[in-house]
Amino acid sequence: MTPEGMERAARILAGAHRVVVSSGAGMSKESGIPTFRDAMDGLWANYDPQQLATEAGFRADPRRVWTWYAWRRERIAQASPNPGHHALVRLQDIVPRLTVVTQNIDGLHARAGSADVVELHGSIHRVKCLDRGHPFDGPLPPYADDQDPQPCPICDSPLRPDVVWFGEMLPKQATERAWSLAERCDAMLLIGTSGTVWPAAELPLVARRHGARVIEVNPEPSELTHAADVFLQGPSGEVLPALVEAVARARSAGASPR
Ligand code: APR
Repeated sequence: MTPEGMERAARILAGAHRVVVSSGAGMSKESGIPTFRDAMDGLWANYDPQQLATEAGFRADPRRVWTWYAWRRERIAQASPNPGHHALVRLQDIVPRLTVVTQNIDGLHARAGSADVVELHGSIHRVKCLDRGHPFDGPLPPYADDQDPQPCPICDSPLRPDVVWFGEMLPKQATERAWSLAERCDAMLLIGTSGTVWPAAELPLVARRHGARVIEVNPEPSELTHAADVFLQGPSGEVLPALVEAVARARSAGASPR
């Protein structure tokens, strides 16, 4: 991350009216929540996504999948938003419009105070039933090893996490809103995603096609770095607070949305 890159990114954001953040699992890494594809400790390095993040995997072994998500829900409940999440909350008070579109299901953006969050892949904190999608807002048992999912009180089919599994459609309303925001934004801040999962990976390309500037924050280049106007290499928990500070300085020095 060079000072020139940081200044350039700050100027882009300080001059933007409508900013969209597109975040992935890297955003929550510094909250102690593993990503999916980081070589050593990514979730998919230790677990089989086909068994744990597909409907077929759930139907084959509901207890295993339900328990795995209960374990993740417990870990997430013990985690806290990190300085990167808090920096985005500060940024929403600096730029005129900011929406966070996230692939993350952990709810940390909202817990930090981000006011406008679109969850493309659902939420681990929400539960619905497998066959009819009936939302379930009753109490969930605390995590225990080898738990069976409860039956839906309406149709008796097993409860499942309200997250998007591989091969499933993204929630219609969230998707429509995310693409509409990407088409109309002046700047997209792309944070902590490998850019390997579609259609979420298309968002920065949509923004760029419609004239937005794209700023990427990631310790490593991703599949989307080619589409970034500025690549700020580093962990989001460090880069974002410095970037937002630079935006605040640029705004107080007179930079304003064009
Ligand atoms: N700060 C920012 N980014 C980081 C950090 C960090 N501290 N640490 C790692 N990263 C980056 C990695 O370099 C990688 O580019 O975060 C990215 C994580 O990539 P993935 O694990 O593939 O996560 P993501 O892109 O969110 O996955 C997309 O895949 O399994 C599905 O539904 C799941 O939403 C998920 C989707």
